[in-house]
Amino acid sequence: MEVIKVKNYEQLSKKAAKLICDMINNKKDSVMCFATGSTPVGTFQEMVDCYTQKRVTFKNTKAFFLDEYCLNHPRLFEHSNKYFLEYNFFNKVNIEEKNIFGFDQNIQNADKTIAQMNERLAENPIDILILGIGENGHIGYNEPEDCDFSSTCHLAKLSIKTRLSQRKYFYDADEVPKYAITLGIADILKAKKIFLLASGLNKASAISKLLQEEQNTCFPASALLQHDNVTIIVDEAAASLYDK
Ligand code: PGA
Repeated sequence: MEVIKVKNYEQLSKKAAKLICDMINNKKDSVMCFATGSTPVGTFQEMVDCYTQKRVTFKNTKAFFLDEYCLNHPRLFEHSNKYFLEYNFFNKVNIEEKNIFGFDQNIQNADKTIAQMNERLAENPIDILILGIGENGHIGYNEPEDCDFSSTCHLAKLSIKTRLSQRKYFYDADEVPKYAITLGIADILKAKKIFLLASGLNKASAISKLLQEEQNTCFPASALLQHDNVTIIVDEAAASLYDK
């Protein structure tokens, strides 16, 4: 695992975007996979800037969602990962709608959307996967409570910790989703290149645990130790326990 330590969130976002855009320039039809959450927002913004300055194009890029909430009601669409990625990235660059592969947010359609995702993944191996990490070590919604390193795309029950961390984004506690669809650990490990981004003191414990280099299903991110092309980009705060 390569670890790149930078000073702060701004540097992290610039560094990640530069490495990703360089890879896309080397392979214009790259297949990407996007995490959501607060961590990659700055990276997406930097990538949008690269695009508007004509330093990269997403014309032939394909994009997979890493995960998606099963929403309790269609009126909560603004909380979906689809809305998030459209708002923060897809609507600001020249990626084509037909090249974006997401999930249905209605839990009734979970089996169908998972089967479709499996087919698309088989046809379009992921070149570049952007990941965040949960404070509990989750990657995607592969939660410690029921993590399986051989899992593929599946319906996941969100842990209480994850639901609590999401509470601030919802008006009412009942609206916080209980389930999400996520790529599994085996899908994640098939990506040719993985960037894991972590910023802030609240991620310091997870990063220090990850870099202790012991695989453990109770700590899903440790599956990344099996992969030979992972770059972790951390700011000083997220690296603060690892350094000690
Ligand atoms: P965050 O979420 O980027 O909002 O911290 C990361 C994650 O939970 O995977």
